[in-house]
Amino acid sequence: MSAKSFNQLLLTVCSPSWEVEPWLAKIPRKKWPDILPLFWKLAQKVDKGALLKQLSGPQKTQLQKQLASQKPQKRRKRTDSTKLETLFLIETASLRIAEQLGKKSSWLEKRKWCLRWFNSPTFLKLTEGVLFSDECIDRVLGLFERKVQHRLKDVTLPQTYQEEALYLDLDPEDLYTPYRVICHWGKSLKLKPGTQVVDLGSGVGRIPLTLGLLYPKVKFTGIEIMRERHEMAEKAKHGLKLRNVTFLCRNAAKRGLPPADYYYFFNPFVGGTLRQVFRQLKNFSSHRSFKVAVAQIELPWKFIQRLNWLKPVHEFSADKAWEGIGITVFST
Ligand SMILES: C[S@@+](CC[C@H](N)C(=O)[O-])C[C@H]1O[C@@H](n2cnc3c(N)ncnc32)[C@H](O)[C@@H]1O
Repeated sequence: MSAKSFNQLLLTVCSPSWEVEPWLAKIPRKKWPDILPLFWKLAQKVDKGALLKQLSGPQKTQLQKQLASQKPQKRRKRTDSTKLETLFLIETASLRIAEQLGKKSSWLEKRKWCLRWFNSPTFLKLTEGVLFSDECIDRVLGLFERKVQHRLKDVTLPQTYQEEALYLDLDPEDLYTPYRVICHWGKSLKLKPGTQVVDLGSGVGRIPLTLGLLYPKVKFTGIEIMRERHEMAEKAKHGLKLRNVTFLCRNAAKRGLPPADYYYFFNPFVGGTLRQVFRQLKNFSSHRSFKVAVAQIELPWKFIQRLNWLKPVHEFSADKAWEGIGITVFST
């Protein structure tokens, strides 16, 4: 897309009268899967400052007027704030577009897009530089972590949730493994047909859904304690028709773990839960071998490094955009 068309798009979405539904209705359906990558490219261009510099004098005035009418009370002194406000509007627009794409598309379309997106190195690379891109993909799939958190904000949590690490104050980008990391890590495992992978504390199901789609002959199970997150994952699983994916809504420490070749941990448990889960795994290890993949963050990373019945066998370095977090695979 030329800089001129990008400028036009930028001025359109920043306009206070911009409405997502009529805008989307004018775009041919076959172009829908390209809308999100287009918006992320727009965000990157604005972030690098290139696009704002290329605006003509009248376009600059138009953008400034538009920004001023979005937030009339706020005074802007530095060019940086124009950049930040523009970025904020592009982010909001992208998330609203993603939600509409999710509502208006069939599950067959979503399945095709996800397969195309997750198999495209260019698409995955693009998501690396755009923090909100993963949440856009979530919204296409109907995975609304923010809605879960909002719903539970002022309610007393059920007894079963208490003392567990539920992370009800984290943004989806901090709470879940990024889609591109899931795709690259999944590929690095060279999973054979019939392999069983369990995601312990699977949240809204990003890992089983993504890898389940990419590797139909591998079996994925997500175990999640929170009913609200589990239900969203289940809905997407049925929509995407993933017969190789199972979601279980249960406390991983109390109801027992299914047998698997890989268990994945991205900081799901603390304290007694963490110890109980590893006690179960240690018992398993006396009669079969398996691997434990651990994102290198806080617990259980520190805890697992001290276990002498697990040995590191494979190191996966994720990109810098995921705060340098890598994934270590340990073997029994
Ligand atoms: C940091 S999130 C990770 C989600 C996912 N594995 C990923 O990487 O995208 C951890 C999840 O573990 C869940 N969790 C916490 N305690 C649990 C327990 N005892 N049993 C099952 N799930 C639990 C939380 O509700 C949360 O959704």
